[in-house]
Amino acid sequence: TKEPIRVYHKKYGWLRTNITSESEGQILNYANTIARRVGREITTLSPLLDAHLVTGDRVNATLAPISTKGNTITIRKFARDPWTVTDFIQNKTVSSEVLALIWLVIQYEMNMIISGGTGSGKTSFLNICMPFIPPNHRIISIEDTRELQLPKFLYWCPLTTREPNPEGKGEVTMLDLLVNSLRMRPDRIIMGEIRKQREAEVLFEAMHTGHSVYSTLHADTCAQTINRLVNPPISIPESMLDSVHLNVVMFRDRRRGIRRVFEIGEFIPNPTTVRELTFRPSILYRWDPRTDSIKASTEDIALYEKIGAHTGLSVDEVRGEIEMKKKILEWLVKNNVRQVEEVGKVMNRYYVDTETVIDVVNNDQSPKELLE
Ligand SMILES: Nc1ncnc2c1ncn2[C@@H]1O[C@H](COP(=O)(O)OP(=O)(O)O)[C@@H](O)[C@H]1O
Ligand SMILES: [Mg+2]
Repeated sequence: TKEPIRVYHKKYGWLRTNITSESEGQILNYANTIARRVGREITTLSPLLDAHLVTGDRVNATLAPISTKGNTITIRKFARDPWTVTDFIQNKTVSSEVLALIWLVIQYEMNMIISGGTGSGKTSFLNICMPFIPPNHRIISIEDTRELQLPKFLYWCPLTTREPNPEGKGEVTMLDLLVNSLRMRPDRIIMGEIRKQREAEVLFEAMHTGHSVYSTLHADTCAQTINRLVNPPISIPESMLDSVHLNVVMFRDRRRGIRRVFEIGEFIPNPTTVRELTFRPSILYRWDPRTDSIKASTEDIALYEKIGAHTGLSVDEVRGEIEMKKKILEWLVKNNVRQVEEVGKVMNRYYVDTETVIDVVNNDQSPKELLE
């Protein structure tokens, strides 16, 4: 209470306000109110609280004497205006061509893993791709803390885990939610992060049984993604790797303060003669740090054949679809359609009335009509 309340500013750091709290008791009261709303407690016996407000913002509280200068409450507000595909093309995180490929992969219900280091932008990238899901599909997401924000037109049921209470009761784990989600007739399953063996097994089983799955993984390259998946603590059988249709790797260049899609790869069978692992990565696109641009590194994309096998499209038709999607994305950028609900509206329209969207884009019309 001797300390003023402070706010964090992206550019200026922690700043003092002219507000102070009345008493230590008042801080405790607030912490208790927050805890109760989400079915948790904060007491001398369990003096640490990690929870979220009803608004979804994350809260942490600590009690004295654990925090020796007094009780604390820290609120981390999540972005009210989340990133979108338009932002990430504009700030050069990814090219429209690569996003068009990802759109295709998501439209045709293939599975995707986003890899990268801590803070490389995995979750953000996963989030911007989700509006590519058609509106008549059921999406179940499973996270430890709510980070994903999807546009309203999607049929989305977010689930979050819960820690046990001080008596060790009431815990809801990632695995509980994953198993439960399969009983909710999902079309698409988003799992925040792959960390443990049992979760990974169930997730890969879900892919195998025809659900489309998206998740993130801590790995720096496509090759490392394979290694992390087949080795402890995740240890999925190598044969299951062919369920991963696309691997996107994010990279954070701390020196330049930028985040980029670093590699786009698919996992293809290794020739038996050089056999070490059953699968190896085939890199489709790679970021070139010198020119700060992402370049195609092969013409040979196994995915196209797989999509063809599902849909009857020829490889040339698949390429045509990617071209059209690329054009739509560039039109979004050109017209600065960048808010998540706006992008959502265009995507929704694309799925219910593809011809109109294609016409508007081909005739280079304004987005007005599609945003009504
Ligand atoms: N492509 C990007 N361009 C700029 N900032 C980004 C980008 N991706 C993520 N960020 C920011 O970086 C931080 C970490 O992103 P996040 O997606 O949570 O990373 P990860 O899931 O890999 O830990 C967030 O503050 C987010 O807003
Ligand atoms: Mg993350």
